[in-house]
Amino acid sequence: MGTLALAAAGGYLLGSIPFGVILTRAVTGQDVRGIGSGNIGATNVLRTGRKDLAFATLLLDAGKGAAALLIARLLFPEVPAIAAIAGGAAFLGHLFPVWLGFKGGKGVATFFGLLLAAAWPLGLLAGATWLIVAALFRISSLAALASSAAAPLYALLPLAALGLPAPAPIVVVALFTAALIWVRHHQNIGRLLKGAEPRIGAGKA
Ligand code: G3P
Repeated sequence: MGTLALAAAGGYLLGSIPFGVILTRAVTGQDVRGIGSGNIGATNVLRTGRKDLAFATLLLDAGKGAAALLIARLLFPEVPAIAAIAGGAAFLGHLFPVWLGFKGGKGVATFFGLLLAAAWPLGLLAGATWLIVAALFRISSLAALASSAAAPLYALLPLAALGLPAPAPIVVVALFTAALIWVRHHQNIGRLLKGAEPRIGAGKA
């Protein structure tokens, strides 16, 4: 029990580092929460006009999800559930960071980092889905909604058929995080339904 609590606390603290806020403030002096959609993620950091910051935010937000899971897996290789809990907690840390009054991001980059670290074929398939939908529609939230919905299905169907099934705790984390991504995108979904969601690089949300 102590180990699980430690994994959850460590994962949460790692995930709660708001890289988009830190980088944007440090480099441009702006608060990304006052720009575009107000989100702290890479898509909204891009609306500052700084592609480099957006890319760094993407890598760091993904990296913290991956790191939480990999560190836990390294420390407790015999219990996959501990890695899944650390990864899930990192995701929750990104969504509800104590440092920002529990008002965090939507979790998409952290989700991809988690998937890549948990079961890389699953991460690659989900990432490819994001890229294809983004290339077709140029809408980040639509790509996030499609790829997060597809990930648990990929985990259950094609990867299992290829002999690369994701472990059960990872499937549970994929389902849990995908559901939260959809909840966090409720405003995006409203804008998508109205045809008012901005395209990638458009500058406004
Ligand atoms: O990853 C977040 C993206 O799906 C939506 O971001 O800023 O357009 O709400 P945003």
